Amino acid sequence: TDAWLTRRNGTLCAEAVPLSAVAQAVGTPFYAYSAAALRANYAALAAAVAPHRVTVCFAVKASSNRNVLAEFAALGCGMDIVSGGEMTRALAAGTPPSRIIFSGVGKTRGEIRAALRVGLHQINVESAAELEVVAAAARELGLRAPVALRVNPDVDALTHAKITTARKDSKFGIAAAEVPALYAEAAARPELEMVGLAVHIGSQILDLAPFRQAWAAMAGLVRVLRAAGLPVARLDLGGGLGIGDDSHPGPDLAEYARIIGETVGGLDLALNVEPGRWLCGRAGVLVSEVLYLKPGEGADFAIIDAAMNDLMRPALYEARHPVMPLHPPRDGAARAYRLVGPICESSDDFGSYPGLGPLAAGDLLAFRHAGAYGAAMSSTYNSRDLIPEVLVDGAQFRLIRARAGIDAALRLEEPGPWSHAG
Ligand code: LLP
Repeated sequence: TDAWLTRRNGTLCAEAVPLSAVAQAVGTPFYAYSAAALRANYAALAAAVAPHRVTVCFAVKASSNRNVLAEFAALGCGMDIVSGGEMTRALAAGTPPSRIIFSGVGKTRGEIRAALRVGLHQINVESAAELEVVAAAARELGLRAPVALRVNPDVDALTHAKITTARKDSKFGIAAAEVPALYAEAAARPELEMVGLAVHIGSQILDLAPFRQAWAAMAGLVRVLRAAGLPVARLDLGGGLGIGDDSHPGPDLAEYARIIGETVGGLDLALNVEPGRWLCGRAGVLVSEVLYLKPGEGADFAIIDAAMNDLMRPALYEARHPVMPLHPPRDGAARAYRLVGPICESSDDFGSYPGLGPLAAGDLLAFRHAGAYGAAMSSTYNSRDLIPEVLVDGAQFRLIRARAGIDAALRLEEPGPWSHAG
């Protein structure tokens, strides 16, 4: 929820902490997350889906800071990972291996072996070729690999083209028509324990109809496999639940849960969902300072100290993050500002915001809904440092990621000895 962001005496607070106090302590730009909002989001989703035997696994890619993961892990939340790095983070945050699912279209041999050794709950396999590698690794290690096949159900998630994943031309999953033969073949191998199926159709999904379509297709596939005498115990329903903004209320959780019940509820399956954005997106803000104002065509530019390397979503997906100034509303004509960063690219542009001003240099602005795919996707382009992350809890806050500093970056670039080859 957004309820953790309130105005007290005019100034914008995260829970009980004025964001300006955080800015003073850590400098801008920075990310701030609300522990209460993370916990409330998990509690609401887990409660909504609980009647259908659904467990929640947080998609670590959305916000991979170990302290954020620890908040979820402490509540019993599982994790959906896509790399060995994410596995290490999930474990470091206290998630038991039995609650970790390994997704992803390009797992390496090393990552698969590590996952099997650790004893993860499930590996979602996305191709026949990957299945061979999982089988070989399991044989070598003398283990049985718990495998689900990720299905491409060929549905359009009706979201931004760059975050849709289940059209038939997508790189993700195995075409539904190929699944029965591959599943049967895999089930005959002693080193593979075929536990079920998985699906994930895309991200930031606001219209729930594509979920119904995809899950109904999965129910059909489960019936086909079972009719062939194959065991199907689990179904991973994927992530993708979107969050609303000022123009859209966002999907209704009760409706989401009802669709689960109606499509796959009666099949005696252990179900799970893998939301990332829904659990953490609204629980974070990116706070940035206005550096300069500059008159422009149509709208004035406000050049801010956050840039596309800190929050990539506007440049990459034309995403818009609602903005709130930290200062109280001011007298004077509301003006439109185009918020742009310091990076030497035209796409370093957060968009036009009508009714924001009047602004002045030194003002602090909070980009909302920055808790998902914000820090997690950031880079050091233009040799900008990764920015601090702060966790707020009640009236307290603490740094959960410090700045690395340019010196640390330069140290990694100390040249190694020449190796002679050829
Ligand atoms: N499960 C799988 C297999 C996924 O690939 C993803 C996201 C999720 C779960 C979680 O999806 P969510 O519930 O967060 O929508 N960077 C983009 C979003 C990319 C999502 C990639 N996969 C953005 O900033 O909008």
